[in-house]
Amino acid sequence: MPPQHFVILGGGISGLTAAWYLALNAPLTTKITLLEASNRFGGWIQSTRVGDDRILFEQGPRTLRPVGLGGLVVLDMINRLKISEFVHALPKDAPAAQNRYIFYPNKLVKLPGSNLISGIRQTLSTKFLLKSLSAVVREPFVRPVLPNLDESVHSFFTRRFNEQLADILISALAHGIYAGDVKKLSMRSTFTNIYNMEKSYGSVIRGAFSRNPSPPSDEDMTLVETINRDNEDLMKIINKSSLYSFKDGIGQLTNALVKDLRGKPNVELKVDSRVRELKFEDGNEIEIITNNGKFKGDHIISTIPAYELVKLLPMLPHLEYNPFVTVGVVNVAYEQPNLLPIKGFGVLFPQATPDNRHHVLGIVFDSDTMPLQDHPKDNYTKVTVMLGGHYYETFKEEELPDEEELLHQALQTLETTLGIYATPAEYVAKLQRKCIPQYYVNHHSRLGGLHNAIKENFKNRLSVCGSSYLGVSINDCVFNSAKLALNLLNDSKKDVVVTGLERVDVKIE
Ligand SMILES: Cc1cc2nc3c(=O)[nH]c(=O)nc-3n(C[C@H](O)[C@H](O)[C@H](O)COP(=O)(O)OP(=O)(O)OC[C@H]3O[C@@H](n4cnc5c(N)ncnc54)[C@H](O)[C@@H]3O)c2cc1C
Ligand SMILES: *[C@@H]1O[C@H](CO)[C@@H](O)[C@H](O)[C@H]1NC(C)=O
Ligand SMILES: *[C@@H]1O[C@H](CO)[C@@H](O)[C@H](O)[C@H]1NC(C)=O
Ligand SMILES: *[C@@H]1O[C@H](CO)[C@@H](O)[C@H](O)[C@H]1NC(C)=O
Repeated sequence: MPPQHFVILGGGISGLTAAWYLALNAPLTTKITLLEASNRFGGWIQSTRVGDDRILFEQGPRTLRPVGLGGLVVLDMINRLKISEFVHALPKDAPAAQNRYIFYPNKLVKLPGSNLISGIRQTLSTKFLLKSLSAVVREPFVRPVLPNLDESVHSFFTRRFNEQLADILISALAHGIYAGDVKKLSMRSTFTNIYNMEKSYGSVIRGAFSRNPSPPSDEDMTLVETINRDNEDLMKIINKSSLYSFKDGIGQLTNALVKDLRGKPNVELKVDSRVRELKFEDGNEIEIITNNGKFKGDHIISTIPAYELVKLLPMLPHLEYNPFVTVGVVNVAYEQPNLLPIKGFGVLFPQATPDNRHHVLGIVFDSDTMPLQDHPKDNYTKVTVMLGGHYYETFKEEELPDEEELLHQALQTLETTLGIYATPAEYVAKLQRKCIPQYYVNHHSRLGGLHNAIKENFKNRLSVCGSSYLGVSINDCVFNSAKLALNLLNDSKKDVVVTGLERVDVKIE
Protein backbone atom coordinates (compact mmCIF):
# COMPACT_ATOMS: atom_id res chain seq x y z
CA MET A 1 0.00 0.00 0.00
CA PRO A 2 1.40 3.44 -0.89
CA PRO A 3 1.98 5.86 2.03
CA GLN A 4 -1.19 7.50 3.36
CA HIS A 5 0.45 10.34 5.26
CA PHE A 6 3.63 12.00 3.99
CA VAL A 7 5.51 14.21 6.45
CA ILE A 8 8.01 16.59 4.87
CA LEU A 9 10.79 18.07 6.99
CA GLY A 10 11.87 21.58 5.91
CA GLY A 11 10.05 24.39 4.09
CA GLY A 12 12.74 25.59 1.68
CA ILE A 13 12.36 25.20 -2.09
CA SER A 14 13.03 21.45 -1.82
CA GLY A 15 10.33 20.78 0.77
CA LEU A 16 7.76 23.01 -0.91
CA THR A 17 8.40 21.38 -4.30
CA ALA A 18 8.07 17.87 -2.86
CA ALA A 19 4.76 18.85 -1.20
CA TRP A 20 3.48 20.44 -4.40
CA TYR A 21 4.26 17.46 -6.66
CA LEU A 22 2.76 15.05 -4.13
CA ALA A 23 -0.37 17.20 -3.90
CA LEU A 24 -0.72 17.38 -7.68
CA ASN A 25 -0.40 13.64 -8.17
CA ALA A 26 -1.65 11.84 -5.06
CA PRO A 27 -5.31 11.03 -4.34
CA LEU A 28 -7.09 13.48 -2.00
CA THR A 29 -7.16 10.81 0.69
CA THR A 30 -3.37 11.07 0.99
CA LYS A 31 -2.36 13.53 3.72
CA ILE A 32 0.68 15.79 3.26
CA THR A 33 2.16 17.66 6.22
CA LEU A 34 5.15 20.01 5.89
CA LEU A 35 7.06 21.12 8.99
CA GLU A 36 9.33 24.17 8.99
CA ALA A 37 11.46 25.09 12.02
CA SER A 38 11.71 28.85 11.40
CA ASN A 39 8.87 31.38 11.28
CA ARG A 40 8.80 31.59 7.46
CA PHE A 41 8.95 29.43 4.32
CA GLY A 42 11.67 29.67 1.66
CA GLY A 43 14.81 28.57 3.52
CA TRP A 44 17.81 30.27 1.87
CA ILE A 45 15.50 32.04 -0.55
CA GLN A 46 15.31 35.43 1.19
CA SER A 47 14.00 38.27 -0.99
CA THR A 48 13.30 41.43 0.98
CA ARG A 49 12.35 45.00 0.12
CA VAL A 50 14.00 47.96 1.86
CA GLY A 51 13.79 51.77 1.60
CA ASP A 52 9.98 52.07 1.69
CA ASP A 53 9.80 48.93 -0.45
CA ARG A 54 11.56 50.64 -3.36
CA ILE A 55 14.61 48.40 -3.44
CA LEU A 56 14.74 44.60 -3.66
CA PHE A 57 17.59 42.82 -1.87
CA GLU A 58 18.32 39.11 -2.29
CA GLN A 59 20.16 37.70 0.70
CA GLY A 60 20.24 34.22 -0.83
CA PRO A 61 19.84 33.09 -4.45
CA ARG A 62 19.16 35.86 -6.99
CA THR A 63 18.86 34.26 -10.41
CA LEU A 64 17.73 31.08 -12.13
CA ARG A 65 19.15 29.65 -15.34
CA PRO A 66 16.74 28.28 -17.97
CA VAL A 67 19.01 25.32 -18.76
CA GLY A 68 18.91 21.57 -18.37
CA LEU A 69 16.06 19.32 -17.31
CA GLY A 70 15.84 21.09 -13.94
CA GLY A 71 15.46 24.39 -15.78
CA LEU A 72 12.52 22.94 -17.74
CA VAL A 73 10.80 21.63 -14.64
CA VAL A 74 11.12 25.02 -12.88
CA LEU A 75 9.69 26.82 -15.91
CA ASP A 76 6.80 24.37 -16.02
CA MET A 77 6.15 25.01 -12.35
CA ILE A 78 6.13 28.78 -13.00
CA ASN A 79 3.68 28.25 -15.81
CA ARG A 80 1.33 26.10 -13.73
CA LEU A 81 1.53 28.48 -10.76
CA LYS A 82 0.52 31.27 -13.17
CA ILE A 83 3.39 33.59 -12.29
CA SER A 84 4.89 33.81 -15.80
CA GLU A 85 3.82 37.45 -16.04
CA PHE A 86 6.19 38.36 -13.18
CA VAL A 87 9.25 36.79 -14.79
CA HIS A 88 12.11 39.22 -15.47
CA ALA A 89 14.55 37.75 -17.94
CA LEU A 90 18.00 38.90 -18.98
CA PRO A 91 18.37 38.61 -22.78
CA LYS A 92 21.35 36.58 -23.96
CA ASP A 93 22.70 39.55 -25.89
CA ALA A 94 22.55 42.06 -23.00
CA PRO A 95 25.93 43.31 -21.72
CA ALA A 96 25.15 41.83 -18.31
CA ALA A 97 24.79 38.40 -19.90
CA GLN A 98 27.89 38.73 -22.08
CA ASN A 99 30.42 40.39 -19.79
CA ARG A 100 31.99 38.43 -16.97
CA TYR A 101 35.01 39.62 -15.07
CA ILE A 102 37.54 38.21 -12.69
CA PHE A 103 39.76 40.21 -10.35
CA TYR A 104 43.33 38.99 -10.94
CA PRO A 105 46.07 39.58 -9.88
CA ASN A 106 45.14 43.15 -8.87
CA LYS A 107 42.82 44.36 -11.62
CA LEU A 108 39.61 43.58 -13.46
CA VAL A 109 40.05 41.15 -16.36
CA LYS A 110 37.22 40.64 -18.83
CA LEU A 111 36.72 37.02 -19.78
CA PRO A 112 36.32 36.25 -23.48
CA GLY A 113 32.60 36.19 -24.31
CA SER A 114 30.71 35.17 -27.40
CA ASN A 115 32.15 37.98 -29.53
CA LEU A 116 34.93 36.19 -31.40
CA ILE A 117 37.05 39.20 -32.38
CA SER A 118 37.10 40.88 -28.99
CA GLY A 119 37.51 37.47 -27.39
CA ILE A 120 40.63 36.79 -29.43
CA ARG A 121 42.02 40.24 -28.72
CA GLN A 122 41.38 39.81 -25.01
CA THR A 123 42.98 36.36 -24.96
CA LEU A 124 46.10 37.48 -26.85
CA SER A 125 46.66 40.40 -24.51
CA THR A 126 46.24 38.49 -21.23
CA LYS A 127 49.09 36.21 -20.26
CA PHE A 128 47.17 33.58 -18.31
CA LEU A 129 44.39 33.42 -20.92
CA LEU A 130 46.97 32.86 -23.64
CA LYS A 131 48.51 30.00 -21.64
CA SER A 132 45.04 28.57 -21.10
CA LEU A 133 44.40 28.73 -24.84
CA SER A 134 47.39 26.52 -25.56
CA ALA A 135 46.18 24.09 -22.89
CA VAL A 136 42.76 24.02 -24.58
CA VAL A 137 44.38 23.15 -27.89
CA ARG A 138 46.28 20.25 -26.28
CA GLU A 139 43.38 18.93 -24.18
CA PRO A 140 41.76 16.60 -26.76
CA PHE A 141 44.99 14.60 -26.80
CA VAL A 142 45.34 14.16 -23.03
CA ARG A 143 44.57 10.55 -22.09
CA PRO A 144 41.50 10.05 -19.86
CA VAL A 145 41.81 8.30 -16.49
CA LEU A 146 39.94 5.18 -15.41
CA PRO A 147 36.15 5.44 -15.32
CA ASN A 148 34.31 6.25 -12.06
CA LEU A 149 37.34 7.63 -10.25
CA ASP A 150 36.70 10.89 -8.48
CA GLU A 151 39.25 13.64 -7.84
CA SER A 152 39.24 17.30 -6.85
CA VAL A 153 38.12 19.92 -9.34
CA HIS A 154 41.62 21.38 -9.17
CA SER A 155 43.26 18.05 -9.95
CA PHE A 156 40.93 17.40 -12.93
CA PHE A 157 41.59 20.74 -14.60
CA THR A 158 45.32 20.61 -13.84
CA ARG A 159 45.53 17.14 -15.38
CA ARG A 160 43.53 17.98 -18.50
CA PHE A 161 44.50 21.65 -18.99
CA ASN A 162 47.03 23.32 -16.71
CA GLU A 163 47.38 24.39 -13.13
CA GLN A 164 46.96 28.07 -13.90
CA LEU A 165 43.54 27.50 -15.43
CA ALA A 166 42.50 25.60 -12.28
CA ASP A 167 43.94 28.24 -9.92
CA ILE A 168 42.51 31.24 -11.73
CA LEU A 169 39.44 30.59 -13.89
CA ILE A 170 38.04 27.46 -12.34
CA SER A 171 38.58 28.54 -8.74
CA ALA A 172 36.70 31.75 -9.54
CA LEU A 173 33.77 29.67 -10.84
CA ALA A 174 33.85 27.47 -7.73
CA HIS A 175 33.69 30.64 -5.62
CA GLY A 176 30.70 31.84 -7.63
CA ILE A 177 28.65 28.68 -7.22
CA TYR A 178 29.83 26.92 -4.04
CA ALA A 179 31.86 29.58 -2.19
CA GLY A 180 34.16 26.56 -2.14
CA ASP A 181 37.75 25.42 -2.44
CA VAL A 182 38.64 23.83 -5.83
CA LYS A 183 41.21 21.65 -4.11
CA LYS A 184 38.52 19.96 -2.00
CA LEU A 185 35.37 19.96 -4.14
CA SER A 186 34.54 16.75 -5.99
CA MET A 187 34.82 16.97 -9.77
CA ARG A 188 32.24 14.25 -10.22
CA SER A 189 29.62 15.87 -7.99
CA THR A 190 30.12 19.58 -8.75
CA PHE A 191 31.12 19.81 -12.43
CA THR A 192 29.23 16.63 -13.36
CA ASN A 193 28.65 17.50 -17.03
CA ILE A 194 32.32 18.19 -17.64
CA TYR A 195 33.31 15.10 -15.66
CA ASN A 196 31.02 13.03 -17.91
CA MET A 197 32.53 14.52 -21.08
CA GLU A 198 35.86 12.94 -20.24
CA LYS A 199 34.10 9.64 -19.51
CA SER A 200 32.03 9.62 -22.72
CA TYR A 201 34.27 11.35 -25.24
CA GLY A 202 37.74 11.01 -23.74
CA SER A 203 38.05 14.80 -23.73
CA VAL A 204 36.23 17.88 -22.47
CA ILE A 205 36.75 19.81 -25.67
CA ARG A 206 35.58 16.93 -27.87
CA GLY A 207 32.59 16.45 -25.55
CA ALA A 208 31.72 20.13 -25.72
CA PHE A 209 31.68 20.06 -29.50
CA SER A 210 29.73 16.83 -29.77
CA ARG A 211 26.09 16.96 -30.76
CA ASN A 212 24.63 15.75 -27.48
CA PRO A 213 27.20 16.29 -24.71
CA SER A 214 25.40 14.43 -21.91
CA PRO A 215 22.16 12.65 -22.80
CA PRO A 216 19.66 12.45 -19.90
CA SER A 217 18.56 9.07 -18.59
CA ASP A 218 15.22 7.57 -19.72
CA GLU A 219 13.80 7.96 -16.20
CA ASP A 220 14.66 11.65 -16.18
CA MET A 221 13.00 12.01 -19.56
CA THR A 222 9.66 10.62 -18.27
CA LEU A 223 9.49 13.50 -15.81
CA VAL A 224 10.27 15.99 -18.54
CA GLU A 225 7.69 14.43 -20.86
CA THR A 226 4.95 15.44 -18.42
CA ILE A 227 5.80 19.06 -19.19
CA ASN A 228 3.61 21.05 -21.51
CA ARG A 229 6.04 22.27 -24.12
CA ASP A 230 3.46 24.21 -26.10
CA ASN A 231 3.61 27.00 -23.60
CA GLU A 232 4.77 30.04 -25.46
CA ASP A 233 5.96 32.14 -22.50
CA LEU A 234 8.02 29.22 -21.37
CA MET A 235 9.72 28.68 -24.70
CA LYS A 236 10.37 32.38 -25.11
CA ILE A 237 12.30 32.46 -21.87
CA ILE A 238 14.31 29.40 -22.77
CA ASN A 239 15.11 30.74 -26.19
CA LYS A 240 16.14 34.25 -25.50
CA SER A 241 17.51 34.63 -22.02
CA SER A 242 20.59 33.67 -20.11
CA LEU A 243 19.01 34.00 -16.66
CA TYR A 244 15.87 35.21 -14.96
CA SER A 245 14.14 36.06 -11.71
CA PHE A 246 10.81 37.69 -10.82
CA LYS A 247 9.56 41.21 -10.22
CA ASP A 248 9.74 40.63 -6.46
CA GLY A 249 12.73 38.32 -6.56
CA ILE A 250 13.11 34.55 -6.22
CA GLY A 251 10.85 34.63 -3.16
CA GLN A 252 7.93 35.13 -5.52
CA LEU A 253 8.32 31.47 -6.56
CA THR A 254 8.22 30.09 -3.01
CA ASN A 255 5.39 32.46 -2.06
CA ALA A 256 3.35 31.21 -5.01
CA LEU A 257 3.99 27.60 -3.99
CA VAL A 258 2.88 28.33 -0.42
CA LYS A 259 -0.25 30.09 -1.62
CA ASP A 260 -1.18 27.25 -3.96
CA LEU A 261 -0.52 24.58 -1.32
CA ARG A 262 -2.64 26.43 1.25
CA GLY A 263 -5.63 25.98 -1.08
CA LYS A 264 -5.34 22.18 -1.07
CA PRO A 265 -7.53 20.36 1.45
CA ASN A 266 -5.12 17.45 2.06
CA VAL A 267 -2.05 19.63 2.67
CA GLU A 268 -0.99 21.21 5.95
CA LEU A 269 1.94 23.65 6.13
CA LYS A 270 3.34 24.55 9.54
CA VAL A 271 5.95 27.12 10.55
CA ASP A 272 7.61 27.32 14.00
CA SER A 273 7.68 23.52 14.01
CA ARG A 274 11.17 22.15 14.54
CA VAL A 275 11.30 18.37 14.32
CA ARG A 276 13.19 17.09 17.38
CA GLU A 277 12.71 13.34 17.21
CA LEU A 278 11.54 10.63 14.82
CA LYS A 279 10.37 7.27 16.21
CA PHE A 280 10.08 4.52 13.61
CA GLU A 281 7.66 2.10 15.24
CA ASP A 282 6.95 -1.53 14.34
CA GLY A 283 4.52 -1.69 11.46
CA ASN A 284 4.24 1.38 9.28
CA GLU A 285 3.80 4.18 11.77
CA ILE A 286 6.32 6.89 12.52
CA GLU A 287 5.93 9.22 15.48
CA ILE A 288 7.11 12.77 14.76
CA ILE A 289 7.92 14.92 17.76
CA THR A 290 8.27 18.68 17.25
CA ASN A 291 8.90 21.54 19.67
CA ASN A 292 5.14 22.00 19.99
CA GLY A 293 3.50 18.61 19.70
CA LYS A 294 3.55 15.12 18.29
CA PHE A 295 1.66 13.19 15.65
CA LYS A 296 1.96 10.17 13.34
CA GLY A 297 2.72 9.64 9.68
CA ASP A 298 3.90 6.78 7.52
CA HIS A 299 6.55 8.28 5.23
CA ILE A 300 9.18 10.94 6.02
CA ILE A 301 10.73 13.10 3.29
CA SER A 302 13.69 14.93 4.76
CA THR A 303 14.80 18.11 2.97
CA ILE A 304 16.63 19.57 5.98
CA PRO A 305 20.43 19.95 5.80
CA ALA A 306 22.34 16.69 6.35
CA TYR A 307 23.89 18.05 9.56
CA GLU A 308 20.36 18.48 10.95
CA LEU A 309 19.11 15.07 9.79
CA VAL A 310 21.98 13.30 11.56
CA LYS A 311 20.72 14.71 14.87
CA LEU A 312 17.42 12.90 14.27
CA LEU A 313 18.84 9.70 12.78
CA PRO A 314 22.41 9.27 14.08
CA MET A 315 22.65 5.72 12.66
CA LEU A 316 22.80 7.03 9.06
CA PRO A 317 26.36 7.19 7.65
CA HIS A 318 28.26 10.09 6.01
CA LEU A 319 25.77 12.85 6.84
CA GLU A 320 28.42 14.87 8.67
CA TYR A 321 31.27 14.38 6.20
CA ASN A 322 30.77 17.48 4.03
CA PRO A 323 31.06 20.83 5.77
CA PHE A 324 28.59 23.63 4.99
CA VAL A 325 30.29 26.99 4.44
CA THR A 326 29.29 30.33 5.93
CA VAL A 327 29.00 33.28 3.53
CA GLY A 328 28.93 37.02 4.26
CA VAL A 329 26.28 38.56 1.96
CA VAL A 330 26.29 42.36 1.72
CA ASN A 331 23.63 44.11 -0.41
CA VAL A 332 24.35 47.74 -1.26
CA ALA A 333 22.23 50.23 -3.21
CA TYR A 334 23.26 53.76 -4.26
CA GLU A 335 20.92 56.56 -5.33
CA GLN A 336 23.07 57.40 -8.36
CA PRO A 337 22.59 55.40 -11.57
CA ASN A 338 25.56 53.99 -13.52
CA LEU A 339 28.15 54.10 -10.74
CA LEU A 340 29.79 50.94 -12.05
CA PRO A 341 32.77 51.55 -14.35
CA ILE A 342 31.81 48.47 -16.41
CA LYS A 343 28.60 46.69 -17.37
CA GLY A 344 28.27 43.00 -16.71
CA PHE A 345 27.12 40.13 -14.60
CA GLY A 346 29.76 40.79 -11.98
CA VAL A 347 33.30 40.03 -10.84
CA LEU A 348 34.57 36.76 -9.39
CA PHE A 349 37.72 36.55 -7.27
CA PRO A 350 39.94 33.52 -7.97
CA GLN A 351 41.72 31.66 -5.18
CA ALA A 352 44.99 32.71 -6.81
CA THR A 353 44.32 36.44 -6.33
CA PRO A 354 46.93 37.73 -3.88
CA ASP A 355 46.06 40.28 -1.19
CA ASN A 356 42.43 39.24 -0.89
CA ARG A 357 42.45 40.13 2.77
CA HIS A 358 38.69 40.39 3.16
CA HIS A 359 38.25 36.94 1.57
CA VAL A 360 36.01 38.28 -1.18
CA LEU A 361 34.39 35.59 -3.34
CA GLY A 362 32.69 37.89 -5.83
CA ILE A 363 30.54 40.92 -6.55
CA VAL A 364 27.25 40.63 -8.43
CA PHE A 365 26.02 43.65 -10.40
CA ASP A 366 22.35 43.32 -9.52
CA SER A 367 21.21 46.53 -11.19
CA ASP A 368 22.75 45.35 -14.49
CA THR A 369 21.38 41.79 -14.36
CA MET A 370 17.89 42.53 -12.95
CA PRO A 371 17.33 46.26 -13.56
CA LEU A 372 13.56 46.40 -13.12
CA GLN A 373 13.05 44.97 -9.66
CA ASP A 374 13.51 48.32 -7.93
CA HIS A 375 11.26 51.35 -8.13
CA PRO A 376 11.30 52.04 -11.88
CA LYS A 377 11.85 55.78 -11.78
CA ASP A 378 14.90 55.69 -9.55
CA ASN A 379 17.72 53.97 -11.46
CA TYR A 380 19.70 52.74 -8.47
CA THR A 381 23.11 51.19 -8.74
CA LYS A 382 22.84 47.95 -6.79
CA VAL A 383 25.48 45.31 -6.06
CA THR A 384 25.98 42.34 -3.74
CA VAL A 385 29.39 41.52 -2.28
CA MET A 386 29.92 37.92 -1.10
CA LEU A 387 32.74 37.09 1.28
CA GLY A 388 34.15 34.17 3.24
CA GLY A 389 32.88 30.74 2.23
CA HIS A 390 35.68 28.18 2.49
CA TYR A 391 38.07 30.89 3.71
CA TYR A 392 36.08 31.00 6.98
CA GLU A 393 36.50 27.25 7.55
CA THR A 394 39.60 27.77 9.72
CA PHE A 395 38.10 30.73 11.61
CA LYS A 396 37.08 30.38 15.23
CA GLU A 397 33.58 31.67 16.03
CA GLU A 398 34.95 34.93 17.50
CA GLU A 399 37.09 35.53 14.41
CA LEU A 400 34.11 35.65 12.04
CA PRO A 401 33.23 39.23 11.06
CA ASP A 402 30.05 40.67 12.53
CA GLU A 403 27.59 42.52 10.32
CA GLU A 404 29.17 45.93 10.83
CA GLU A 405 32.58 44.56 9.94
CA LEU A 406 31.17 42.78 6.87
CA LEU A 407 29.67 46.04 5.63
CA HIS A 408 32.97 47.84 6.13
CA GLN A 409 34.86 45.11 4.25
CA ALA A 410 32.33 45.18 1.40
CA LEU A 411 32.47 48.98 1.00
CA GLN A 412 36.26 48.90 1.02
CA THR A 413 36.18 46.21 -1.68
CA LEU A 414 33.85 48.34 -3.82
CA GLU A 415 36.29 51.27 -3.50
CA THR A 416 39.44 49.34 -4.35
CA THR A 417 38.07 47.13 -7.12
CA LEU A 418 35.41 49.29 -8.76
CA GLY A 419 36.29 52.81 -7.63
CA ILE A 420 32.92 53.39 -5.97
CA TYR A 421 33.29 55.91 -3.13
CA ALA A 422 29.65 57.05 -2.88
CA THR A 423 27.61 56.62 0.30
CA PRO A 424 25.04 53.85 -0.01
CA ALA A 425 21.36 54.77 0.26
CA GLU A 426 20.47 51.32 1.61
CA TYR A 427 22.38 48.25 2.69
CA VAL A 428 21.93 44.94 4.49
CA ALA A 429 24.85 42.82 5.70
CA LYS A 430 24.23 39.24 6.80
CA LEU A 431 26.39 36.35 7.86
CA GLN A 432 24.63 33.34 6.32
CA ARG A 433 25.74 30.49 8.53
CA LYS A 434 26.33 27.02 7.08
CA CYS A 435 24.42 27.86 3.92
CA ILE A 436 26.13 25.91 1.12
CA PRO A 437 27.14 22.23 1.37
CA GLN A 438 30.58 21.34 0.04
CA TYR A 439 30.53 18.11 -1.94
CA TYR A 440 34.02 16.87 -1.17
CA VAL A 441 35.86 14.24 -3.25
CA ASN A 442 34.04 10.87 -3.31
CA HIS A 443 30.70 12.46 -2.37
CA HIS A 444 29.08 10.17 -4.95
CA SER A 445 30.23 6.93 -3.34
CA ARG A 446 29.30 8.21 0.13
CA LEU A 447 25.80 8.87 -1.21
CA GLY A 448 25.78 5.26 -2.40
CA GLY A 449 26.47 4.15 1.18
CA LEU A 450 23.73 6.43 2.48
CA HIS A 451 21.27 5.10 -0.12
CA ASN A 452 21.94 1.51 1.00
CA ALA A 453 21.69 2.38 4.70
CA ILE A 454 18.31 4.09 4.19
CA LYS A 455 17.03 1.08 2.23
CA GLU A 456 18.14 -1.38 4.88
CA ASN A 457 17.09 0.55 7.98
CA PHE A 458 13.88 2.22 6.91
CA LYS A 459 12.46 0.23 4.00
CA ASN A 460 9.95 2.54 2.34
CA ARG A 461 9.47 4.97 5.21
CA LEU A 462 12.25 7.53 4.66
CA SER A 463 13.55 9.41 1.65
CA VAL A 464 15.81 12.44 1.29
CA CYS A 465 16.24 15.39 -1.06
CA GLY A 466 17.52 18.97 -0.75
CA SER A 467 20.79 20.72 -1.38
CA SER A 468 22.84 18.31 0.77
CA TYR A 469 22.81 15.54 -1.82
CA LEU A 470 22.46 15.87 -5.58
CA GLY A 471 23.02 19.53 -6.49
CA VAL A 472 22.74 22.91 -4.77
CA SER A 473 21.14 25.05 -7.48
CA ILE A 474 17.42 25.74 -7.29
CA ASN A 475 17.04 23.88 -10.60
CA ASP A 476 18.65 20.79 -9.06
CA CYS A 477 16.63 21.05 -5.84
CA VAL A 478 13.35 21.34 -7.76
CA PHE A 479 14.20 18.54 -10.17
CA ASN A 480 15.21 16.11 -7.43
CA SER A 481 12.17 16.87 -5.26
CA ALA A 482 9.77 16.54 -8.20
CA LYS A 483 11.33 13.28 -9.26
CA LEU A 484 11.25 11.89 -5.74
CA ALA A 485 7.57 12.77 -5.32
CA LEU A 486 6.65 11.08 -8.62
CA ASN A 487 8.71 7.99 -7.77
CA LEU A 488 7.02 7.68 -4.38
CA LEU A 489 3.60 7.72 -6.07
CA ASN A 490 4.59 5.51 -9.02
CA ASP A 491 2.54 2.29 -8.92
CA SER A 492 5.08 0.32 -10.91
CA LYS A 493 7.68 1.09 -8.21
CA LYS A 494 5.63 -0.24 -5.31
CA ASP A 495 8.04 -3.13 -4.79
CA VAL A 496 11.18 -0.98 -4.87
CA VAL A 497 12.48 1.11 -2.00
CA VAL A 498 12.63 4.77 -3.05
CA THR A 499 15.23 6.81 -1.13
CA GLY A 500 15.66 9.91 -3.32
CA LEU A 501 19.23 8.84 -4.05
CA GLU A 502 18.47 6.37 -6.88
CA ARG A 503 20.80 8.21 -9.21
CA VAL A 504 23.83 6.93 -7.28
CA ASP A 505 22.62 3.33 -7.28
CA VAL A 506 25.30 1.92 -9.59
CA LYS A 507 26.74 -1.57 -9.47
CA ILE A 508 30.47 -1.51 -8.80
CA GLU A 509 32.26 1.75 -8.09
C1 LIG B 1 24.01 33.16 -0.61
C2 LIG B 1 23.46 32.11 -1.55
C3 LIG B 1 23.30 32.39 -2.91
C4 LIG B 1 22.78 31.44 -3.77
N1 LIG B 1 22.59 31.76 -5.09
C5 LIG B 1 21.94 30.89 -5.90
C6 LIG B 1 21.52 31.30 -7.21
O1 LIG B 1 21.72 32.47 -7.62
N2 LIG B 1 20.87 30.39 -8.00
C7 LIG B 1 20.58 29.12 -7.56
O2 LIG B 1 19.99 28.34 -8.31
N3 LIG B 1 20.94 28.71 -6.31
C8 LIG B 1 21.60 29.58 -5.47
N4 LIG B 1 21.91 29.19 -4.19
C9 LIG B 1 21.60 27.81 -3.74
C10 LIG B 1 20.15 27.62 -3.33
O3 LIG B 1 19.59 28.83 -2.87
C11 LIG B 1 20.00 26.60 -2.19
O4 LIG B 1 20.79 25.46 -2.44
C12 LIG B 1 18.54 26.16 -2.03
O5 LIG B 1 17.74 27.30 -1.78
C13 LIG B 1 18.41 25.13 -0.90
O6 LIG B 1 17.06 24.80 -0.71
P1 LIG B 1 16.61 23.58 0.22
O7 LIG B 1 15.14 23.61 0.32
O8 LIG B 1 17.25 22.32 -0.26
O9 LIG B 1 17.29 23.89 1.65
P2 LIG B 1 17.02 25.09 2.68
O10 LIG B 1 16.73 26.34 1.96
O11 LIG B 1 18.19 25.05 3.61
O12 LIG B 1 15.70 24.63 3.46
C14 LIG B 1 15.72 23.74 4.54
C15 LIG B 1 14.70 24.19 5.58
O13 LIG B 1 14.65 23.23 6.65
C16 LIG B 1 14.43 23.92 7.86
N5 LIG B 1 14.86 23.03 8.96
C17 LIG B 1 16.11 22.75 9.38
N6 LIG B 1 16.07 21.87 10.40
C18 LIG B 1 14.77 21.58 10.63
C19 LIG B 1 14.08 20.72 11.55
N7 LIG B 1 14.73 19.96 12.43
N8 LIG B 1 12.72 20.66 11.49
C20 LIG B 1 12.02 21.41 10.59
N9 LIG B 1 12.62 22.23 9.70
C21 LIG B 1 13.97 22.31 9.72
C22 LIG B 1 15.25 25.18 7.71
O14 LIG B 1 14.77 26.20 8.58
C23 LIG B 1 15.04 25.53 6.23
O15 LIG B 1 13.97 26.42 6.02
C24 LIG B 1 22.43 30.14 -3.29
C25 LIG B 1 22.59 29.85 -1.93
C26 LIG B 1 23.07 30.81 -1.06
C27 LIG B 1 23.18 30.48 0.40
C1 LIG C 1 12.75 28.73 -30.02
O1 LIG C 1 11.36 28.97 -30.15
C2 LIG C 1 10.78 28.48 -31.34
C3 LIG C 1 9.30 28.81 -31.31
O2 LIG C 1 9.07 30.08 -30.80
C4 LIG C 1 10.98 26.98 -31.45
O3 LIG C 1 10.46 26.51 -32.67
C5 LIG C 1 12.46 26.66 -31.36
O4 LIG C 1 12.63 25.27 -31.35
C6 LIG C 1 13.04 27.25 -30.09
N1 LIG C 1 14.45 27.00 -30.07
C7 LIG C 1 15.04 26.40 -29.05
C8 LIG C 1 16.51 26.26 -29.12
O5 LIG C 1 14.43 25.99 -28.08
C1 LIG D 1 16.52 56.58 -15.41
O1 LIG D 1 16.90 56.06 -16.66
C2 LIG D 1 16.00 56.37 -17.71
C3 LIG D 1 16.46 55.65 -18.98
O2 LIG D 1 17.85 55.53 -19.02
C4 LIG D 1 15.95 57.91 -17.90
O3 LIG D 1 15.04 58.24 -18.91
C5 LIG D 1 15.52 58.53 -16.57
O4 LIG D 1 15.56 59.93 -16.67
C6 LIG D 1 16.42 58.11 -15.43
N1 LIG D 1 15.90 58.57 -14.16
C7 LIG D 1 16.65 59.19 -13.23
C8 LIG D 1 15.95 59.62 -11.97
O5 LIG D 1 17.84 59.40 -13.37
C1 LIG E 1 7.16 4.66 -13.10
O1 LIG E 1 8.11 3.63 -12.92
C2 LIG E 1 8.39 2.87 -14.10
C3 LIG E 1 9.28 1.70 -13.68
O2 LIG E 1 10.43 2.10 -13.00
C4 LIG E 1 9.02 3.79 -15.13
O3 LIG E 1 9.30 3.07 -16.31
C5 LIG E 1 8.08 4.94 -15.42
O4 LIG E 1 8.70 5.84 -16.31
C6 LIG E 1 7.71 5.67 -14.13
N1 LIG E 1 6.71 6.69 -14.40
C7 LIG E 1 6.87 7.98 -14.08
C8 LIG E 1 5.75 8.91 -14.41
O5 LIG E 1 7.89 8.40 -13.53
